[in-house]
Amino acid sequence: MGLSLRTWVASIILLTHLVHGALGWGVDGHYSVCKIAQSYFEEKTLVAVKKLLPAFANGELANVCSWADEIKRTPEWSWSYTLHFANTPDYKCNYDYSRDCPNDWCVTGAIFNYTNQLMSASEDSLSIVHYNLTEALMFVAHFMGDIHQPLHEGFFGDQGGNKIKLNWYDQETNLHRVWDNKIIDSALEKYYNSSRSYDWSNDVPSWVSCPLHKIVCPNLYASESIDLACKCAYKDATAGTTLGDDYFISRLPIVEKRIAQGGIRLAATLNRIFYPKPKLATA
Ligand code: ADE
Ligand code: ZN
Ligand code: ZN
Repeated sequence: MGLSLRTWVASIILLTHLVHGALGWGVDGHYSVCKIAQSYFEEKTLVAVKKLLPAFANGELANVCSWADEIKRTPEWSWSYTLHFANTPDYKCNYDYSRDCPNDWCVTGAIFNYTNQLMSASEDSLSIVHYNLTEALMFVAHFMGDIHQPLHEGFFGDQGGNKIKLNWYDQETNLHRVWDNKIIDSALEKYYNSSRSYDWSNDVPSWVSCPLHKIVCPNLYASESIDLACKCAYKDATAGTTLGDDYFISRLPIVEKRIAQGGIRLAATLNRIFYPKPKLATA
């Protein structure tokens, strides 16, 4: 790609803002993750993804990247609600699959499940089981974003920061929303016209590889997230405090890095599923 990853992430976030009018790891953070991912697809991956996408996606994975959030509170899909996160016991800063993902029913279990479903699909079967694999793709694309938001691996007692009420500058909100939305909202307000961000290009090869050459490694991403939750998100953010410039300036690079990692790892995973030799460094 012509653009450096640094410029690319900043551009995608700005583009997202222009498309949706407001930014957040809610709709727009997910949009950014999927936009970055699609730009790293191998040709065969792009063909397979386009085959699976529903018509309303218009050929763009980013357009369905928040579908899982849109449906999770409807009666038909309420079973999927807890697949969006994996919390740890209070004040535990490590992630343990058997402890934190009971019955595989959490974001890591969901990523394993839906990538396995996509893996089992051959070229021929794509059209036969189209509907389920369409859902599998939309879930994987969404959950790969969620798992990189540090507070989607937060503490059980405060529901990943949702119960920590505080102020973001002069707005009443909660810590989870600060990480889903507010940090990026503020970045757009302050840095609208400048592409300022750290350049992670050298780190990309280490992001895409999984231990033991696995297709995907959500346990690793969840471990990184709870570590960041403890060291960065919860730190200096107790209930009732006002978060402002210090918190914003120190945490924004982490939000940008996690969005970039989510996009790159989503692309690498789908390339490994649909294309035997990924362009992004081999795992
Ligand atoms: N609800 C409970 N815990 C949550 C978390 N970590 N993220 C999002 N929603 C949640
Ligand atoms: Zn979600
Ligand atoms: Zn969230």
